[in-house]
Amino acid sequence: MPEIIKFSPAPSLFGFGSLAKLPEELESRRFRRILIITDPQIAASGILQRVLDLLKGSFDVELFDGAPSEPHGVDVDREGARFGSHFDTLLGLGGGSSMDFAKALSIIITHSGSLGDYAGEGTVPGPVVPIVCVPTTSGTGSQSTQTAVFTVEGIKSGCSSEYIRPVFSIVDPELTMGLPSLLTRNSGYDALMHAIESFIACPSARVEERPILYQGSNPFSRALALEAFRSIWSSYFKAVSDGDDREARRGMSIGSHLAGIAFSHSGLGLVHALASSLGGMLEAPHGVCLAACTNIGLGFNLKACENDLASLDGVTDEIDGAGSTRGSAERFLSNIQVIIRKLNFPSRPSDLGIKKEDALTLLNKTLVQTRRIKTNPRPLGEELLSFIEKGI
Ligand SMILES: NC(=O)c1ccc[n+]([C@@H]2O[C@H](COP(=O)([O-])OP(=O)(O)OC[C@H]3O[C@@H](n4cnc5c(N)ncnc54)[C@H](O)[C@@H]3O)[C@@H](O)[C@H]2O)c1
Ligand SMILES: [Fe+2]
Repeated sequence: MPEIIKFSPAPSLFGFGSLAKLPEELESRRFRRILIITDPQIAASGILQRVLDLLKGSFDVELFDGAPSEPHGVDVDREGARFGSHFDTLLGLGGGSSMDFAKALSIIITHSGSLGDYAGEGTVPGPVVPIVCVPTTSGTGSQSTQTAVFTVEGIKSGCSSEYIRPVFSIVDPELTMGLPSLLTRNSGYDALMHAIESFIACPSARVEERPILYQGSNPFSRALALEAFRSIWSSYFKAVSDGDDREARRGMSIGSHLAGIAFSHSGLGLVHALASSLGGMLEAPHGVCLAACTNIGLGFNLKACENDLASLDGVTDEIDGAGSTRGSAERFLSNIQVIIRKLNFPSRPSDLGIKKEDALTLLNKTLVQTRRIKTNPRPLGEELLSFIEKGI
């Protein structure tokens, strides 16, 4: 059968000032009863108040501002009992944690049960209360993905279903202008790794069990991932070092958004699988875990996607004006390590307290991240353990 690829992005508005269109977008969908899901820092930052002011008078708004960073399944289960399913929409306002909380809560208030029951792909039995997302970080791309990430029993896992893809999102870079440098660094690295891992993902024709949610690299995802990478590479450093740089904030916002659309169709790979395992073993932000696992993950994959990594290196040359004629996969990997060092990220899991003896645990927790592994460009074999041991 010829290869069939499904491309199902949700509508989104992008640009400085686009938040003002929120009431119009909600009204056009007849969404009147709204539950806003956000976190205490967003509530304190003034961003929540701007949204409440926009909705005042015309909408019936309830608020939950207690979404925790990097949520656990039990956090959602606990809140699920508090809210009924009488809302027209759940509005996730914040970073990936608040947006994912909105997705996860929507599953629980619609279908009941415990969030752990829905881990995996295609486990949501039917439509949920529609989700709308307004991101305030430039990282996860959760506003455009069909996934909610949460930790269950020490393993960072996720629930992926087209039912939980937000029905629309508003990506306004203005909301990221006050994002502190450290959070810009951490969430930006996530976006960078989405663009890279989506671009180098296993080609869709080679992915087994298709058609599925994560289909492998394909013409839709490759085009978006490449443009996402270009945009992020041009803006990342500038946004971290000068949060007032509007052009850099704009580049990170659109780059992270495009990367989210790309990877939600292609899937990701070993760097994310390792980082999710690490994130379940210790409390560290997702972006930090990704940085610590990059050397192992990309190093293991190098031989399987040399041309793609060289293409990305070529893009960095264009942007940085290095002027070389041919991209090189090895140079690309060492340039990523330069960024990791310059931004003061941990460059290996041992920087986060992981010991050589933990290598097998990290491997075993990684092997269960099936949604990431099946789109990794290189099949995972025995050699991975020695990469992990050396890389720790
Ligand atoms: N659903 C997906 O597709 C997907 C993809 C990648 C990662 N994730 C998950 O998303 C989570 C990480 O999300 P994140 O990196 O966006 O961080 P986050 O949502 O955890 O936010 C981190 C902190 O930044 C604060 N913050 C956010 N925006 C701010 C702003 N504009 N001004 C001031 N403070 C602000 C938050 O209040 C919070 O304290 C992880 O759980 C990760 O695994 C989900
Ligand atoms: Fe990620």
